Amino acid sequence: MSKKVLVTGGTKGIGRAVAEIFAENGYDIILTYAADQEAADSCEHDIRRRYGVNVSSIKADSTSRTSIDKIAEYLDKNAISLNTLVFNAAITLRTSFETTTLEDWDRVFFANVHFPVFLLQKIIGHIESAGNVIFTGSLMGIHPHGTSLAYGITKSATHALVSNLVKFLKPYNVRVNGVAPGFVDTDWQKTKPAEIRHNIEKKIALERFCLPQEVAKVYLMLAQNEYFNGEIIKIDGGYSYK
Ligand SMILES: NC(=O)c1ccc[n+]([C@@H]2O[C@H](COP(=O)([O-])OP(=O)(O)OC[C@H]3O[C@@H](n4cnc5c(N)ncnc54)[C@H](OP(=O)(O)O)[C@@H]3O)[C@@H](O)[C@H]2O)c1
Repeated sequence: MSKKVLVTGGTKGIGRAVAEIFAENGYDIILTYAADQEAADSCEHDIRRRYGVNVSSIKADSTSRTSIDKIAEYLDKNAISLNTLVFNAAITLRTSFETTTLEDWDRVFFANVHFPVFLLQKIIGHIESAGNVIFTGSLMGIHPHGTSLAYGITKSATHALVSNLVKFLKPYNVRVNGVAPGFVDTDWQKTKPAEIRHNIEKKIALERFCLPQEVAKVYLMLAQNEYFNGEIIKIDGGYSYK
């Protein structure tokens, strides 16, 4: 029977590239998304046609508590055992420090930190022995920046979760790792004005954004190399060195 991977926020951007590379390697795919059903349907259809694996998707916005039960119920109902669980969906907040409300702050923390923790708690029994969990962190969780305080702090928390969860997942024989991308050419970045994009490129030694497919290879490597545990792999094209 094929291995299975669940990717949150798996219908676009990095999540979709991760789904594609796992599908290419024979995994069955379960995706979640927030709202865009048309994109989810087309993603499902494309992956099924290209790689001949089973693909399904669940509308499960990670800003909502009910999504935790929805995903867990789907896995229960279909008696699914996952080899790999990828936490990829995240949100940001670009309001100024002065105008950020507690509600705004809570929403980002819920989606980026509380949601993965409590989803993991609920579905840990669905991850097979010798399986693994991969979190999506960010370069912004390593280097302080001036764009979004809530985002940077939640991504630092994501990195801390990876190292802290190692011991908690040991009894299940489940490994946990993370990927910390720099600037990846997804809708998230593509909507930025050309001048800002150019300024970012100038700070990257490789002078370009990362392709989602380049990041996706790191996820596959973490899932398949059984000695990685508690590691955050930074992939930033040399941003820190220029
Ligand atoms: N792009 C970068 O430069 C970069 C750098 C570092 C880290 N990251 C991290 O990489 C991850 C993916 O980023 P991306 O750039 O690939 O994003 P993206 O292109 O905006 O991908 C969006 C995907 O996530 C889903 N999604 C968005 N909000 C969601 C929510 N609240 N609940 C569930 N699913 C949601 C979308 O579903 P709908 O289409 O239905 O909304 C879609 O499937 C995030 O954790 C981000 O922080 C990105």
